[in-house]
Amino acid sequence: MKILVVGSGGREHAIAWRLAQDEEGHELYCAPGNAGTAEVATNVDIKADDIPGIAAWATVNHPDLVVVGPEAPLVKGLVDALAGIRVPTFGPVAAGARMEGSKRFAKEIMDAAGVPTGKAEVFTDAAAAKAALPAFGLPVVIKADGLAAGKGVIVAETTDQAEAAIDDMLVGNKFGAAGAEVLIEEFLHGEECSILALVDGNDAVLLPSSQDHKRIFDGDKGPNTGGMGAYSPAPVVTADKLPMIKEKIIMPVVRELKKRGITYRGVLYAGLMVNDENANPHGPLAKSGSTVNVVEFNARFGDPETEAVLPRLGGSFATALLHAAQGCLKPEDVVVKDEAAATVIVASGGYPGDYEKGKEISGLADAKPDTIVFHCGTKRVPSDDGIEILTSGGRVLSVTGLGSNLREAVDRAYARIAGISFGGMFYRKDIAHRAFERG
Ligand code: AMP
Ligand code: GLY
Repeated sequence: MKILVVGSGGREHAIAWRLAQDEEGHELYCAPGNAGTAEVATNVDIKADDIPGIAAWATVNHPDLVVVGPEAPLVKGLVDALAGIRVPTFGPVAAGARMEGSKRFAKEIMDAAGVPTGKAEVFTDAAAAKAALPAFGLPVVIKADGLAAGKGVIVAETTDQAEAAIDDMLVGNKFGAAGAEVLIEEFLHGEECSILALVDGNDAVLLPSSQDHKRIFDGDKGPNTGGMGAYSPAPVVTADKLPMIKEKIIMPVVRELKKRGITYRGVLYAGLMVNDENANPHGPLAKSGSTVNVVEFNARFGDPETEAVLPRLGGSFATALLHAAQGCLKPEDVVVKDEAAATVIVASGGYPGDYEKGKEISGLADAKPDTIVFHCGTKRVPSDDGIEILTSGGRVLSVTGLGSNLREAVDRAYARIAGISFGGMFYRKDIAHRAFERG
């Protein structure tokens, strides 16, 4: 197949890399891609959210499939534009991407479909929002409705913090239009995990469970980031929970959207809070009464979850994505290998705050068995002796190890990182600690 992957991060490198493993062989392109995607695909110099640019490329090049990585082009209607020129595309239409683009819309769908989630109320007026706080207790979660680059969620431990977050969004306009509506949400206790479901409009197939590490420092301390590592499977998702997650969370959303005229095709990513005796930690039960509750939905593959989950898939990945895009996905399209995977993000010093770019990365060519180095923020530049790879982002590399168990996978990822260096390089040393702590 001729396939275009849209995006330029570790997730898109992992998607392109996994497509390149398919036995049938594909002609792969990536727009705009990075130094890593250039190893498995031809990079095309079009920005991921340049919808007319991508549509024009597709008109000329006739891909058999376009796979959209990031949320921005989904929310902006890339899939709608490509549907208009009959290009099979993996990803939801803009109306479906609102599951990620509007937290208010996602709650409305969940409430209509009876999906267990934190109790929430929506406000546009700061005084009314503050007056509602006591009913939620503490901690309490304040969320901007729209996309705010992962910064629009505040878990407030005190009423002062909650009121400050409400003022920032509704009075100070901190997130612009994305924060013009604010949700106050019940705090959910437990352990988080991610379930990525491939959805074809009518049915869904769950990919293996995973868990990411959102905080910058070891022990899950410090500010939130785009994700500092991930592993799969996540032991908190015991096998008995998977049918419940499909039947009570994923499918009701797919059906509710369909009822509203939205055929959802692509990944429906459920960020879940699991709160039972298997969770690490666990606490008081949510108001919904369910031990598994939705924290958020995303309309795309997770990053860095993708770098841990996709290497565990066998079979033809292109066929699974094409079948989802065409509405004919079958359970047997998803083949899961009995392996564990862990991915560790190697970041630029200072991330998620200010950091320097343009540092030369060494050690990339020193391959080790059962490891893969996915590029997140890198670029290729000509040098005296060929090509140099330089850092170009906060998250630079996503280093995945595979093994027969999680310990082996984590050790392999760290062994591979030991051979890599660049100025200011930083990474967490405790990826998968929750899984190991449970003993
Ligand atoms: P979101 O962007 O909705 O995923 O929120 C970012 C992070 O905030 C989540 O990964 C959770 O760690 C935390 N969070 C969001 N909503 C809640 C909630 N209702 N209860 C506890 N933590 C939450
Ligand atoms: N890893 C979290 C996300 O992709 O949103």
